[in-house]
Amino acid sequence: MNNVNDPADARSGGRVVALVPAAGQGTRLGEGMPKAFVELRGRTLLQRAVAGLLDSGVVDEVVVIVPADRVGEVRADLPGGVSVVAGGAERTDSVRAGIAAAPDADLLLVHDAARALTPPALIARVVAELRAGREAVVPALPVTDTVKTVDLLGVVVATPERSELRAVQTPQGFDADLLRRAYAGSEEIATDDAGLVERVGATVRTIAGEPLAFKITTPLDLALARALTDPDTNE
Ligand code: C5P
Repeated sequence: MNNVNDPADARSGGRVVALVPAAGQGTRLGEGMPKAFVELRGRTLLQRAVAGLLDSGVVDEVVVIVPADRVGEVRADLPGGVSVVAGGAERTDSVRAGIAAAPDADLLLVHDAARALTPPALIARVVAELRAGREAVVPALPVTDTVKTVDLLGVVVATPERSELRAVQTPQGFDADLLRRAYAGSEEIATDDAGLVERVGATVRTIAGEPLAFKITTPLDLALARALTDPDTNE
């Protein structure tokens, strides 16, 4: 029988809420609109990301976080049952707004709208790892480029050993109380949620990521996403 006081037991059977930060301006994409609203063969990146979460079969509720002036429009465009709340200036502000809108979650996923082609099977694998007892799970791929750290003038400071580096993707999955604690204890701006969770001393586990979960950030990424989607079926 489950012990209700044990966080690992709450994870094994608990309610999964996926937060989808989509409130960024996306200027690097150069499409003249927030990137989550850019269309890829008839559907926005945001609609595709939400559909992938629902198709995974492991998500009980989706909360989408969008620019404040788009909340009404997005509510009308997404399936019923998907909640829509206003985001903030930084990604961390947007995720914070999503966390506040999901008080009954036992497990929280945070999934970038910009990772619009993420295979539902990857989402299911993240949740399976959480249900097996992990407190924080992130998909990750080995990096193919050598990565250097540089100073403000662009002078190389160090060359980290490439075999130890990973590029992390979303969805990132967390025990909900752990993610709430990480956000409550920090005013910092983090580029990913696992970064904040690491700072409260939790163990973040990587699992094998998926090339198709790439983040659509630049015009080249968008061209790749268009090439990868079928013009006839819009899939
Ligand atoms: O800017 P970046 O590519 O890291 O954004 C990752 C995700 O976070 C995107 O889906 C973007 O819409 C979202 N975001 C947000 N609120 C912000 C900035 C980014 O929801 N203020």
